[in-house]
Amino acid sequence: MSEIDALKIQLESLQREALAAFAEAEGLNALQALRVHYLGKKGALTEVLKGVGKLPPADRPVIGKFVNQAKQALAVALDAMEVELAVKAKAERIEAERIDVTLPGRNRPKGALHPVQQGLDELTAIFAQMGFDVAEGPEIEDEFHNFDALNIPPEHPARAMHDTFFIKDMKNDEGTEPMLLRTHTSPVQIRAMKRFVAEGGEPPLAVVAPGRVYRCDYDVTHSPMFHQVEVFKVDRDVSLAHLKGVLQHFLSTYFEKDVAIRLRPHYFPFTEPSAEVDIGCVFCAGKGCRICKGSGWIEVLGSGMIHPNVLRSVGIDSNEFSGFAFGLGVERMVMLKQGIPDLRLFFENDVRFLSRMGVAK
Ligand code: DAH
Repeated sequence: MSEIDALKIQLESLQREALAAFAEAEGLNALQALRVHYLGKKGALTEVLKGVGKLPPADRPVIGKFVNQAKQALAVALDAMEVELAVKAKAERIEAERIDVTLPGRNRPKGALHPVQQGLDELTAIFAQMGFDVAEGPEIEDEFHNFDALNIPPEHPARAMHDTFFIKDMKNDEGTEPMLLRTHTSPVQIRAMKRFVAEGGEPPLAVVAPGRVYRCDYDVTHSPMFHQVEVFKVDRDVSLAHLKGVLQHFLSTYFEKDVAIRLRPHYFPFTEPSAEVDIGCVFCAGKGCRICKGSGWIEVLGSGMIHPNVLRSVGIDSNEFSGFAFGLGVERMVMLKQGIPDLRLFFENDVRFLSRMGVAK
């Protein structure tokens, strides 16, 4: 075979191989690599051209023409393939970014306040509307505000270690008393009255104090952390009738119906006389059911007339002024209003419960 024929055959097979490779190129980058491989300065065709130099001068133009034709054919094929791949890439990009306006909208779950916080706000708002000022106190308290000033003597069972969380290695500013997590919101009575007196205020003074309280206790009806709302009013001639009127209005507003109320004599150190307050069972309307244990009444809060010793401890003259006070458990109020059977549900973060309460979706 003449050299020229051999070169021609080499050229043809190279061209076939190249065209097949172009047709299979997966993308524009791969195609560009093939362009360099076949047509580049150090490419396969250039290699073939080197062989032309060895041919007799007369044959060179002939084979040169073949090489140029091959080059031309490959360049055309490359350009066509490039267009094809570019169109395909664009179509793929458009498909990937396509917005289907017929798809249903995505639901973004909305959060809400925890049912206890909702209850706390609702209860506080009722009293604020009745003219009570909102006050708050510290959750870490000293024994004076949590107990002594409230006429709770040192031997009172509420002061025993098993009820109260004391804070290790922490003392009040004077270094004389241990600090504790407040066991009720009643110390806010003391703090609010003391502040009021210190600012030169003269009763009337009416306060609602919502907040967290702590007791070493955990079962179906007790949680180590829970919420209370404390309410009190001090003025001249405040009587049990005022207490009962405020309770009647408050409880009927909260439960959104005319609830019956009953004051049962009781003992609290910081009130005299003291009473526990029952409402006619909101589940059976007083007929007697499982929830009210057949009595037709449900206990909802503790109350009374502020003990003269308490007024004295904050420098209010108990001969001139008197007051009523009551304190209620927020979880209990929310449970009664919403029919929630177990206090622990509030603190378990179970989405099934929270979504029923409108907190999570
Ligand atoms: N502090 C009481 C408790 O946590 C509740 C209470 C009862 C508050 C009677 C009062 C009251 O203001 O008069 O058990």
